[in-house]
Amino acid sequence: MSSEPEGTDVVVDRVTVDWDGLRTAAREAMGRAYAPYSGYPVGAAGLTTDGRLLSGCNVENAAYGVTLCAECSLVSALVMSGGGRLAAFTCVNADGDVIAPCGRCRQLLWEHGGPDMLIETAWAGIAVMSEVLPGGFGPWDLAAVESSRGRDGSREGGRDDTSEATEKREQP
Ligand code: THU
Repeated sequence: MSSEPEGTDVVVDRVTVDWDGLRTAAREAMGRAYAPYSGYPVGAAGLTTDGRLLSGCNVENAAYGVTLCAECSLVSALVMSGGGRLAAFTCVNADGDVIAPCGRCRQLLWEHGGPDMLIETAWAGIAVMSEVLPGGFGPWDLAAVESSRGRDGSREGGRDDTSEATEKREQP
């Protein structure tokens, strides 16, 4: 069963995404960042395939390693607002300039946007996630082993149920 929200998907491509609007939302989110330790506020914004505009900021912690990147906040907003898929993404620094998502956050974006999600980059303009995270590990990698071995790890029965993750994503 899929948890994709109902509704008609907007056409999202390099022309129809309002990148200026997305960047503006990211800059506004950056203004809410809690970054007293690094002094490096970050804002992220994403457009879902059903047209929702979501944003997030980094939230740091006295235990530095517990810091939540802006992308964590954005992905939480995505899930809390009904789920669905990210179609376009950008993130900015305190100067409002586009920055590269860190490695962990590329993985977060891969999970919720997949290889075709559009992403604004400082080095190549608008790119797709498969360019930013080539050969990424995703839900289909889990599904491949689950179907060949069965969920209990035995080589016997393959799975005949279909996980949500498998349903929602196709191998690129
Ligand atoms: N940061 C993000 O929010 N997203 C990224 O993709 C890169 C790094 C944050 C984490 C930390 O609060 C600050 O930037 C400095 O690393």
